[in-house]
Amino acid sequence: MTAPADTVELLSYPEQQVPAALRVQVLALQQLAWPDAPDDPGHEPGHDPGRDPGHDPLLDPQSLLLVGVADRTVVAALDVLSKEIVHEGRRYAASGLSRVVTAPDRRGRGHGRRLVAAAHAAVRDGGADLALFTCDTPLRGFYESAGWRHLPGTYLIGGTPEEPFPSFMFDKVTMGDFFSPLAREHAADFLGRNIRLHSGAIDKLW
Ligand SMILES: CC(C)(COP(=O)(O)OP(=O)(O)OC[C@H]1O[C@@H](n2cnc3c(N)ncnc32)[C@H](O)[C@@H]1OP(=O)(O)O)[C@@H](O)C(=O)NCCC(=O)NCCS
Repeated sequence: MTAPADTVELLSYPEQQVPAALRVQVLALQQLAWPDAPDDPGHEPGHDPGRDPGHDPLLDPQSLLLVGVADRTVVAALDVLSKEIVHEGRRYAASGLSRVVTAPDRRGRGHGRRLVAAAHAAVRDGGADLALFTCDTPLRGFYESAGWRHLPGTYLIGGTPEEPFPSFMFDKVTMGDFFSPLAREHAADFLGRNIRLHSGAIDKLW
């Protein structure tokens, strides 16, 4: 039996192992959503057109995709980035979402919510202590509807220790969740605080 024309499946790959036919579509969706705006927070401006503007490999980027079963069209995509952070003297395995995008002609049909909900489950089950990421303020409800928590008054300090890139420079809120017993016990330490994410010079914020 063949799947209905609009059936999509969830696929997951390390970013650099996304099959080329899918990767080219992901890059096209990202380019449409963030067309090299120099002030676009967290995205390195002015990359070479021929170069794959992938994430910093040190952040172990994992891509989650919703792909049409029949036509192999990428309907929505995001990347999960991860690193260890030290906060108030404790070490945590932290992950966050980056470059969440739905194809413009497929928006408003629940694909984005399905994908960020799947990412919540993947991060929860993947061994991270906690998740932290920023999003544009109007999208807070979108992420909350998919299981993510708003962390009021919390800001991420991206960039590097030498060149910090704080999220409070932008109209952004911080979302996240606490998964491990350690993170749950100390969740209050993350509310209303500046958190040194220091995600590096490539992914200045995630
Ligand atoms: C944000 C985005 C991924 C949502 O994808 P989508 O497939 O349209 O999302 P859904 O259909 O699952 O919508 C879920 C809900 O979020 C809401 N929503 C979507 N985009 C929104 C926006 N820009 N502002 C406010 N609410 C928004 C929808 O109205 C919907 O709410 P409802 O169910 O109460 O009607 C998509 O709009 C997109 O690709 N935007 C451009 C890139 C971007 O801004 N990414 C997020 C970076 S933080």
